[in-house]
Amino acid sequence: MIVEKYIENVAIRPLLICGDSLEVLKLFPPNCIDMAITSPPYWGKREYNSGGIGLENDHNLFISSLLLIFYEIKRVLKPSGSFWLNIGDTYRNKTLLGIPWRLAIRMIDEQGWMLRNEVIWNKVKGGMDNSIDKLGNVHEVLFHFVQQPKYYYNADSIRSTPKKAIIKNGTVISATGVSGIRYKRQIELSTSLTLEEKTNASIELEKVLKDVHDGIISDFRMIIRGQQRATHSDREKVSGRAKELKIKGFYFLKYHPNGSIPKDVWNIIPEDTQNRNTHFAPYPEDLCKIPILATCPQNGIVLDPFMGTGTSMNVAYCLGRKSIGVDISSEYIKIAEERIGEPSLFEAVNA
Ligand SMILES: C[S@@+](CC[C@H](N)C(=O)[O-])C[C@H]1O[C@@H](n2cnc3c(N)ncnc32)[C@H](O)[C@@H]1O
Repeated sequence: MIVEKYIENVAIRPLLICGDSLEVLKLFPPNCIDMAITSPPYWGKREYNSGGIGLENDHNLFISSLLLIFYEIKRVLKPSGSFWLNIGDTYRNKTLLGIPWRLAIRMIDEQGWMLRNEVIWNKVKGGMDNSIDKLGNVHEVLFHFVQQPKYYYNADSIRSTPKKAIIKNGTVISATGVSGIRYKRQIELSTSLTLEEKTNASIELEKVLKDVHDGIISDFRMIIRGQQRATHSDREKVSGRAKELKIKGFYFLKYHPNGSIPKDVWNIIPEDTQNRNTHFAPYPEDLCKIPILATCPQNGIVLDPFMGTGTSMNVAYCLGRKSIGVDISSEYIKIAEERIGEPSLFEAVNA
């Protein structure tokens, strides 16, 4: 079938399939997809032009319909694969239903997914909200699920580029202005460190400053007993660092030379690249970049079972990855085709 042919082919142009995700995914061979990313319709909020999921009378039925599709995603994903799920919540009778977490818990309990992150997508600017008895909503969640403890994750591909240390008057100063002078003074004046601990702390500090100078680490912080507030629990039973502080009198927090990994709150203003007359909820391209870079190998395949206007496919294509998108609406498939541009080796197919 077309999916097998696409998998074997080297061309990275996305394969777009028009049909009901559950039926389409059943036609895929097992273990053929490297990562999936998607945003299903909200429950009970919008009617897309071809019906589909989200129109159930009860939110539990909506969750059950999604679980059937996610079971198929699990089957088609390679064991090392990841599934990123962006899902919105809904109010009913003034109650926020907690749909994302109800779904996540059932995925974990009933299907054996492992939840690695709950990313908060902060949309920065909220939409129009006329409520007078609750706060305005400005965020959605993006869950990162995997299937086994060891999975594909390229952390280096998503690190922020660290700023370089500078040398001023012969002294090395880290990108955040740490020169070691303050630490040296704190060691000298410490009433908490013994003479031996002071000597050791000074020697270790010089070594760390040399590492910054040589680019082995990009930055650091020194925690000295009685000086800095420790960034961990003080109970030695639960913290190796608390133990180190007690025994040695100091420890270092060293920053990775290639920069740090993004945190789990992302500020991304929603884009309106696809003009809301034709599609209501395209997610921003920036929401897909980190997931695709980190969890889809360069020669891997991305899947979006609710691809809408094809944002995931477009980002995968720009990042040089193959991808397969499914949507029940032929109109959205057409929009995605136009968006991706270039003529397709595999024209959009109806499943
Ligand atoms: C929130 S939108 C996805 C938007 C997409 N992330 C984008 O950037 O354009 C959800 C999509 O799911 C599609 N859909 C709903 N039920 C479906 C089903 N059973 N199978 C396939 N697609 C479905 C809708 O047509 C809609 O385009």
